Amino acid sequence: MIQHIKNDRNIVLYAWRRLGKTALIHRLFEDLEGSNEFETIYVDLLATQNLGESIQAIASGIYEKFGKTSSGIGAALHKLLASIGASLNFNPHTGFPEISVNLRKPEKATESLHALGVFLKSRKKRIVLAIDEFQQISEYEPQAEAIFRTWVQEIPEVRFIFSGSHRSMMEAMFTETRRPFYQSSQLEALNPIDLVKYTDFIRDHFLKAKKEITDSSISKIYELSRGQTYTIQLLCNRLYSTYQRISETEVSLIFQQILDQQKVIYANFQKILTRTQWNVLKAIAKEEPLFNPFAKEFIAKHDLGATSSVRTAIKALEKQEMVIQDQGAYLVHDVQLARWLTQI
Ligand SMILES: Nc1ncnc2c1ncn2[C@@H]1O[C@H](COP(=O)(O)OP(=O)(O)O)[C@@H](O)[C@H]1O
Ligand SMILES: [Mg+2]
Repeated sequence: MIQHIKNDRNIVLYAWRRLGKTALIHRLFEDLEGSNEFETIYVDLLATQNLGESIQAIASGIYEKFGKTSSGIGAALHKLLASIGASLNFNPHTGFPEISVNLRKPEKATESLHALGVFLKSRKKRIVLAIDEFQQISEYEPQAEAIFRTWVQEIPEVRFIFSGSHRSMMEAMFTETRRPFYQSSQLEALNPIDLVKYTDFIRDHFLKAKKEITDSSISKIYELSRGQTYTIQLLCNRLYSTYQRISETEVSLIFQQILDQQKVIYANFQKILTRTQWNVLKAIAKEEPLFNPFAKEFIAKHDLGATSSVRTAIKALEKQEMVIQDQGAYLVHDVQLARWLTQI
């Protein structure tokens, strides 16, 4: 990523949830800030629904970065906020200042982005702007993708990192010839860390505290977690704080405790999904890795009804990112939920 940035290339970073994209961006930012050549801005689009809200998020990111000086907010930033019609209010709950932007028309969005770009270009150090959960823009008004693309081209001085969890969508956005972002960035997939590397890493950490963990336990942790950074970290953390010697028995015990704690949340999914969606989700978890959800045997075995309703259910589950396709296999995205579903 540092190579891409130093050589003026934008980056698309994509991976499933909780693999470490956001953590990696923050880690990269530490290095970039340390080099004194770059200034970094982080923006999260997860909660945004339209172009206006994304502009507000970007403006807030800029304000977070440059607005909190001891001398108060600088003249340039003040001018910028005024030009995009942003106002600074105090959040009644936290007491912290917050930006709000009033935007309705897309033309206004283009103007506001332009003003933000001019400000970013005017900084002495190079700006690296990370836009996390970028797949969210596919939920915005149809012209949003093109408007963003134009903006990115308008400010070639600024380096962008587009990060997102919806792998197929991110890939499509940046590789389909008709899409505005076609071939505009370097695609970098973040894959699970290799088991061999992870085994050394985990064993060493336990050894440092004079704790023992068998290699087969680590393989089990890895398998239960599908290599997902978050679940591995959580499991290891709990094992570390509970035991002195760890075998597969302790791994199973702790993993079960983790699932039990989530039960209330998982049970709630049943209420927000249709019956077929719920049954299909359960069946996918039980058959992991499932390659053909439309096969007669699979549908009959789990009593899922008509192929067409399975198709509709999977489409809806994929749209919500509850089900993903990874190397041809259908998976329940949330690995802990997947494991829990196999038990009911
Ligand atoms: N380098 C790391 N070392 C240890 N744990 C990590 C590391 N990176 C990520 N994690 C763990 O993985 C979790 C998910 O990471 P995050 O960056 O939020 O994933 P993503 O943005 O891909 O959804 C973190 O909360 C943390 O527990
Ligand atoms: Mg993230």
